[in-house]
Amino acid sequence: MQPLLEVQDLEVCFARRQVLRRVSFSIAPGETLGIVGESGSGKSVTALSIMGLLSRPGRVTGGRVLWHGEDLLQLPPDSHRQLRGKAMAMIFQEPMTCLNPVYTVEKQISEVLMLHRGMSKKEAAEAAADYLEQVGIAEPMARLRNYPHELSGGMRQRVMIAMALAGEPELLIADEPTTALDVTVQAQILDLLKQLQAKTGMAMILITHDLGLVAENAERGVVMYAGEVVEEGSVEELFTNPAHPYTQGLLRSLPRWGEQQDMLYTIPGTVPRRLEGIAGCAFAERCPLAEERCAEPQSMHRFSATQAARCWRTKDKVGDAEWQSR
Ligand SMILES: Nc1ncnc2c1ncn2[C@@H]1O[C@H](COP(=O)(O)OP(=O)(O)OP(=O)(O)O)[C@@H](O)[C@H]1O
Ligand code: SF4
Ligand SMILES: [Mg+2]
Repeated sequence: MQPLLEVQDLEVCFARRQVLRRVSFSIAPGETLGIVGESGSGKSVTALSIMGLLSRPGRVTGGRVLWHGEDLLQLPPDSHRQLRGKAMAMIFQEPMTCLNPVYTVEKQISEVLMLHRGMSKKEAAEAAADYLEQVGIAEPMARLRNYPHELSGGMRQRVMIAMALAGEPELLIADEPTTALDVTVQAQILDLLKQLQAKTGMAMILITHDLGLVAENAERGVVMYAGEVVEEGSVEELFTNPAHPYTQGLLRSLPRWGEQQDMLYTIPGTVPRRLEGIAGCAFAERCPLAEERCAEPQSMHRFSATQAARCWRTKDKVGDAEWQSR
């Protein structure tokens, strides 16, 4: 089956600083793919590049973004814009990124329906209420008259999801959609996304720094580090047999049953901000297994149809003592 979306060797620079390097992954129709990595690893820049929403000084400097086999990066900006909202939609951590504070909820959802679905104003107003109901908003008719600032954070998140769904996208990119919400609302929103996905058959890219959320919600995961994909695999492979020392470190830092929050393990060190000057493995400074050979460029080693990792020592497990010594 042809992938819905295939990202091949994507490179992005902000002015002269390179922030993405050879990023490749694909997603099949209806699939849920998790993209996980620490802050600054390039998750949002990847999503914005796919959507054609990267703003200056950000620039795609290489690679391809194939949508049903067609390279979106070669499309004129107008055609890319038309795909946005209809073929693919994105939701963000902060709903006000895409909600307009001076328009009512009705106007914002109706606009998507008129633009992408060709509805009349009257049809759109009726359908807007349906969408609010679908995303679990009580008294939808009353809420349609509200402005975004009159709603709670969780409710704004739901309105943003309703807007995204109104275009009937084949792919929804959810960029840390629940990070700003409390735990109960977080769980409700993720449940809602899963239900809507089951109903519409859309594919979803779930972006998060939380490997736990990937386990619960995705079929496959892509692990990013310092602007590169360092491992990809099915959720089962990533959790039971992680190949890259960074994925092994992320797993170690997941909270375990009965463990105190303040005792949680964190990988020592920080993500390098610049890729320039790093010819070899970008994780070397923090990796307990680093050796001389890691200073050479690392390519992806594949060991199953779904799992591959960017490390010549893939599958050497990092022992507790080695992590502790770092
Ligand atoms: N507008 C910008 N101007 C300059 N650099 C930027 C800009 N946006 C992102 N970057 C840089 O690109 C890199 C990747 O950022 P990105 O926002 O994609 O990270 P992320 O993985 O989404 O992190 P987070 O989990 O914090 O959202 C970072 O080094 C960041 O500083
Ligand atoms: S290439 Fe070397 S430094 Fe990088 S993850 Fe593998 S062992 Fe660690
Ligand atoms: Mg981000």
